[in-house]
Amino acid sequence: MLLYDVEELFRIEKIKARWILDSRARPTVEVEVKTQGNGIGRAAAPAGASKGKHEAWELRDGGRSFKGYGVSKAVRNVNSIIAPVLRGMDSRRQRDIDYKMIELDNTPNKSKLGANAIVATSLAVAKAAADTYGLPLFMYLGGKYARTLPTPLMNIINGGAHAGNELAIQEFMIIPVGADTFSDALRIASEVYMELKSYLKEKYGPSAVNVGDEGGFAPPMKETREALKALVESIKRAGYEPGKDVLLAIDAAASQFYNEDKDKYIIDGKELSRSQLLELYKELVEEYPIVSIEDPFHEEDFEGFKEITRELGSKILIVGDDLFVTNIERLRRGIREGAANAILIKVNQIGTLTETIEVVYEASQNNYKAIISHRSGETEDTSIAHIAVALNTGLIKTGAPARGERTAKYNELLRIEEFLGSEAIYLGEKALKKTK
Ligand code: PGA
Ligand code: ZN
Repeated sequence: MLLYDVEELFRIEKIKARWILDSRARPTVEVEVKTQGNGIGRAAAPAGASKGKHEAWELRDGGRSFKGYGVSKAVRNVNSIIAPVLRGMDSRRQRDIDYKMIELDNTPNKSKLGANAIVATSLAVAKAAADTYGLPLFMYLGGKYARTLPTPLMNIINGGAHAGNELAIQEFMIIPVGADTFSDALRIASEVYMELKSYLKEKYGPSAVNVGDEGGFAPPMKETREALKALVESIKRAGYEPGKDVLLAIDAAASQFYNEDKDKYIIDGKELSRSQLLELYKELVEEYPIVSIEDPFHEEDFEGFKEITRELGSKILIVGDDLFVTNIERLRRGIREGAANAILIKVNQIGTLTETIEVVYEASQNNYKAIISHRSGETEDTSIAHIAVALNTGLIKTGAPARGERTAKYNELLRIEEFLGSEAIYLGEKALKKTK
C-alpha cells in the first residue's frame, strides 16, 4: 500500500454502462466503475410505475424496440458523455462528481442525460470508492455510527398500479416491530406472509395468491377494509398481536385514483371528496393499527396533506412520496406549510446520491422521518439497504419478503446485521417515533 500514491488508488479508471432487465422485463441502466486501485462498483437504476409528476426524468428510447422502454440513449450518455469527464476524478469526491453530472446535464430535471443514467453512475462511483477502501458501502458512507438496521415497511398486499385487481390503495404494509433484531423482525414478517397466503387461498381461491409487482399478493378484493382485515387476520394466525408485534401502514398513492375533472377520489366503488377521503382515513386509523399513511392525497394537494397532518400527524406518520419526489425544494415547502411529517426517499426520483443525502439531512433537521425506498421496478442492486443503514434513517420500504429483487435488499440487511454483530441496533417501533 505504501508503495502507492493513495490518491491515485481512488482515481476513476473506467466507467462502463450497459442495459440489464428490471423486474418487469424492461431494460434499465447498469453502470460499472473501476478505480485505479481496482475497486469495483456496480449499480443499476430502478424504475417506478406510479411515478410522481415532478420526478427527475427517466430517459427512454421510444419507438418499437422494448415497446419504447429501451435505454440505449441513456447507456450511450454514460459511455460517451459522462465517462470521459469523470475519468481521472477521485471517486471519493462524490459531491463534485454528482454536481459535475448535474452540470453536464444542465436541465432542471436531468432530462438531457437521463436520471437513470446519472443515478446508476452516482451509486456505482460510491461503491467503487468503498471497494477501494475495502469497506462495505454502508460503512464508507455512514462511518462507525452507522449501525441501526431499518424497521421495514413491507408491502404484502398489492393494489393500484402494481396489481391487476380493483383495490384503489396501492400498498398494504406490515411493520414487524415486536423483535429485538432485524433478522427476527424479518422472520415474523415472513411468517405473516405465509399465513396471509393460506388465508387468501381459503377465502378467495387459488388465484388470490398471485403476486403483484412488489411481491405482495394481488387478491381479487374490491375494498380497502377487506385488505386490512386480511392483514390483521394473518398476523393473529401467525401468533402475533396486531398493534403490538406487528403494525400496519398504507401507501394510498392517491394520484392514481384521483379524478381531476371531477375533483374526486374513486375508491371502494365511491367518489369521495378530499374531506370525505380524510374521514375514511380517520376511520381506518381508528379501526386498524395503522401507523403510517403515504400519499393520502394527490401529488399537488399540499392543502390536503396539511389537513391530514393537522388531524392525524401527532399519532401517525404522514408520508410524502409523489408529493415531495425526494426534491429538497418540495420538501422545504412541505416543512414551511406543515404538510406531512415524513418523506419517502427514492434515489432515482432526484437522480444523485449527493442530493439524496442532502434531502435526508434536511428532513432530519426538521424532524421529518425519512423512509428509504425501492421502486416497483427493481433489480438485484442492494444499494438502498446500505443507504438506509448509512444515513441512520431507521426505516426502509422495500416490498414483500418475496421475489428476488425484494429479498436482495432484506438479505443484504441480514448480512449487514451479521457483519455488525453485537453493535447492530434494531429499533422496532421506536424508529417511527419523533426524535424531538
Ligand atoms: P413506484 O411505487 O415505484 O411504482 O412509483 C412505489 C411507491 O409509490 O411508493
Ligand atoms: Zn408511494
